[in-house]
Amino acid sequence: MPGVVDRLRVAHEVEVWPEDRAMPRVELLASITTVEGLYCFLTDRIDSELLDGASSLRAISQMAVGVDNIDLAAATARKVPVGHTPDVLTDTTADLAVALLLSVLRRLPEATAYVREGRWGEWRIDLLLGTDLHHSVVGIVGLGRIGKAVARRLAGFDCRILYSGRQRQQEEPGGASLVSLEELLSTSDHVIITAPLSDQTHHLIDRAALRLMKPTATLVNVARGGLVDHLALAEALRSEVIAAAALDVTEPEPISAGHPLLELPNCLIVPHIGSATRRTRQAMADLATDNLLAGVAGRRMPACINPEVYA
Ligand code: DGY
Repeated sequence: MPGVVDRLRVAHEVEVWPEDRAMPRVELLASITTVEGLYCFLTDRIDSELLDGASSLRAISQMAVGVDNIDLAAATARKVPVGHTPDVLTDTTADLAVALLLSVLRRLPEATAYVREGRWGEWRIDLLLGTDLHHSVVGIVGLGRIGKAVARRLAGFDCRILYSGRQRQQEEPGGASLVSLEELLSTSDHVIITAPLSDQTHHLIDRAALRLMKPTATLVNVARGGLVDHLALAEALRSEVIAAAALDVTEPEPISAGHPLLELPNCLIVPHIGSATRRTRQAMADLATDNLLAGVAGRRMPACINPEVYA
């Protein structure tokens, strides 16, 4: 992104991975040995093996809010602060969650294909009938920053909003009510996942969870692919246990060629573009740069996910 390397170069020697693909692990392990600061992405696995070989490392700065690719305990044990990019991408990601839900409910991919393929004839009373978002019950799994921003948007659609999570949130936008995950799944017309991925939430939405959902329900995931068991989802979509899904994230990424989800007309998949607007990606890049510069200089990072390192 414009500006990042220039800002870093003012005071530091900077090595940039030149290729337009994630840095292979072997290259990362080889080059980490002498660096003091690491600017990384969600495609990089930052674990004990890597940290053990990074004896000069003073700061890790990830250009993403989610840090499930980073072993935080291992970084914290080594007193390495880890920066991330909360807040700046919240609204952009919430916009995409609503866009995905509306696209599926109003059948926009099918409707576009219908026109492009020259099938648009006379206006028909029953053409491409969809499902309403307004006045529906929407369940949000994980009412964090992005979940709250989704709830604020859905309040504008007169939706009733339920959420599940470990604790009641002080701020409950749109009158969102805390319920158990089971109640959320069985009561919601549509379910949107915005929870972080962790050992506790891996495959939170599995076969049993999908079976609790309404057969007319749509599942949207803008968090991490690992929250959903994709084989169970494909089966649920194929056998109409639920009506549809819209995924910004998959497990793995990219989704493997020939994955059963790719065969299903009731599954919309986009390639992890939740925060992908020019303005937001620049804001993420800038915040990640601020974090790295502060961390390497031994100053407190503006957005540090493991502030206990400063204790
Ligand atoms: C994040 O920041 O965690 C997103 O998934 C990518 O923007």
